[in-house]
Amino acid sequence: MTILSADEAPFSLSSRPDYAAALQQLREASRAYYGGESGLLDDAAYDRLRRSVLAWEAEHPDEVAQDSPTGLVGDGAAPVGDIAHTTRLLSLDNVFDADGLIAWGASLQRRLGRELAGGFTVEPKMDGAAVAARYRDGRLVQIITRGDGTHGEDVSHVIGTMDGLPEQLPFPATFEVRGEVLFTQQQFETANEVRTAHGAPVFANPRNGTAGTLRAKDRPYRLAMTFWAYGAVELDGVALAPAGATHAEVLAAVARAGVGTTADTPAGLHVVATLAEAQQKVDEIAAMRPGLPFGIDGVVIKANDAAEQAAAGYGSRFPYWAIAFKLPAVERQTVLRDVVWEVGRTGVLAPTAILDPVDLDGSTVTRATLHNPADIRRRDLHLGDTVTVYKAGDIIPRVQAAVPGLRPDGAREVPLPTACPQCGGGINKDQERWRCARGTACALPALIEYAAGRDMLDIDGLGRTYVKALIESGDVADVADLFTLTEEQLTAASGSARRGAKLAAQIEAAKSRPLSRIFCSLGVLGTGRSMSRRIAAYFGTMDAIRRADAERMQEVDGIGGEKAPVIVEQVASLSAVIDKLVAAGVNMREPQQPEATREGPLAGKTVVVTGKMSGPLAGAGRTEVNALIEKAGGTAGSSVNSRTTYLVCAPSASGKPSSKAVKATELGVTVLTPEAFAELVADYLTGS
Ligand code: IVH
Repeated sequence: MTILSADEAPFSLSSRPDYAAALQQLREASRAYYGGESGLLDDAAYDRLRRSVLAWEAEHPDEVAQDSPTGLVGDGAAPVGDIAHTTRLLSLDNVFDADGLIAWGASLQRRLGRELAGGFTVEPKMDGAAVAARYRDGRLVQIITRGDGTHGEDVSHVIGTMDGLPEQLPFPATFEVRGEVLFTQQQFETANEVRTAHGAPVFANPRNGTAGTLRAKDRPYRLAMTFWAYGAVELDGVALAPAGATHAEVLAAVARAGVGTTADTPAGLHVVATLAEAQQKVDEIAAMRPGLPFGIDGVVIKANDAAEQAAAGYGSRFPYWAIAFKLPAVERQTVLRDVVWEVGRTGVLAPTAILDPVDLDGSTVTRATLHNPADIRRRDLHLGDTVTVYKAGDIIPRVQAAVPGLRPDGAREVPLPTACPQCGGGINKDQERWRCARGTACALPALIEYAAGRDMLDIDGLGRTYVKALIESGDVADVADLFTLTEEQLTAASGSARRGAKLAAQIEAAKSRPLSRIFCSLGVLGTGRSMSRRIAAYFGTMDAIRRADAERMQEVDGIGGEKAPVIVEQVASLSAVIDKLVAAGVNMREPQQPEATREGPLAGKTVVVTGKMSGPLAGAGRTEVNALIEKAGGTAGSSVNSRTTYLVCAPSASGKPSSKAVKATELGVTVLTPEAFAELVADYLTGS
């Protein structure tokens, strides 16, 4: 079930002037959208406004404006050209949750007068722009935008720039293929580099970039995009697939002609017999979304059989035999209030945007990453700007672009640091990513202190003062150096032979800490205590961690497509430090506790924890609760999936369940309150 956040749920329009104002807002926003500008409303706000207008229109059928955008394809704002479409290029009606899909299934059944017999197809809804591409005798001769569904613009200037839409087919077929064109993430990054090199502003997001690129006929550069077909129709009375072919067969024929189809995407095209199975595929595709190399804004379910499609028929804007299951927004607009700078383990100055809170893909986002000073300037970010923020799944939220039309008067450019925000020293600006001139030394004290902590290497007595002394004397330049310190060096740093001897003994003991703690002490980005425990438990040895590529790394619970390559790259860059740890005789194995021999109330169970703890666990942090789970024989998970046994989650104050709770309900996972969970593990609570 999809839960809309408060600011995504429709609101009620109370008067005719409200209705007229809402129509005007809809028109302006969709004109900006189709013009390739950053939209004046983000998708969630647009959908919300649109549904409010639809609700008002349903209640006041006699007062519906003749020219209401809700009755027009593309809400009537897509630029209309003068090329007539062969048959209307329609849009799709939307549902937002499982109940909506069931209601659509029921309406389809009513139209057919019986249950659907030919099954459904399920495929991704690509977030780009619809085009029709005409092939005559195997040659791509024309590309047309959707326009108002009846007429579109000729954008044949993009012929030759789209992967998946070859200029020449292997056989002389004549037909029209319909599908979505977009920038993949990779193409989007390249496009923005090309634009920057030409002094053009970067695109706000791939979809805006696509709309702008289709319209721009006189750019001095060409940008590669990708096309995926989701249908084909006759051209000049000639069809590609035989009459009566199913949707899946039509796409297979298109693929044989060498044109990319939705079936070729990693999300694929699935043929299923029932709507329940379709819902399952929707969930699977939704779960894949963060890892897909392009944006999707939903999943499309269609009746597969041609005769059943014809029997269900068409409305003025969309076919009755297909429906878009919209996924929650992963891109929203909010206001950029501030930018703070932190110094990372490698001395890099990392900017973080401080934002007005916004609900994105099930969580409230208040901070987002920015890349570096050059990128901040390229995006022309000002404090007070309304910016688009992107977040999906486990991906760290990031700021995409400012919406120039919404910049407040007098807004100042984001200020860049003039001194290292950590040590106040100079900044090395040789590269786009600025660094503290002292490099790793700047962040080293914090890293070593963190590594020596009680739940890490547990080197009792090695506090801030001694760490500082050891770094200043040059005895410690990385975490591995701790293990080769002599008693003399420790005596000098601590100022006492007794303390030196005690520290040396502590360090000797620290050599046999479990791999999870040793790994965590390296300070690899994105690997805190529980993530390090999961990585160590999964791989078992440091060697196996070092051998893992990004694909393998993603097999660890909670590591997504974005995080995996970062971890792999960081582990590789720490190669020399890890070698030193090995040479110093530090343990490189995780003691494996076979599932079967584990004991306790959670033996063999995977538990995910979310939200604030209450009752006996009030104030407990995630690390403590995860440690408690493991003590009670269980495994701590980060995301709810089919392997999850319990989700521990306090009921939310707002009454709106968290995305994890929604997922748990969908999958039939038992949800426990923190109090119920505390009762389950009561015997393990003391001293946790
Ligand atoms: S089917 C007659 N399938 O979504 C069938 N549309 O919001 C009409 N879209 O206008 C479209 N992926 O531009 C279909 N797999 C897919 C799609 C898809 C993206 C776009 C298409 C459509 C819009 C409706």
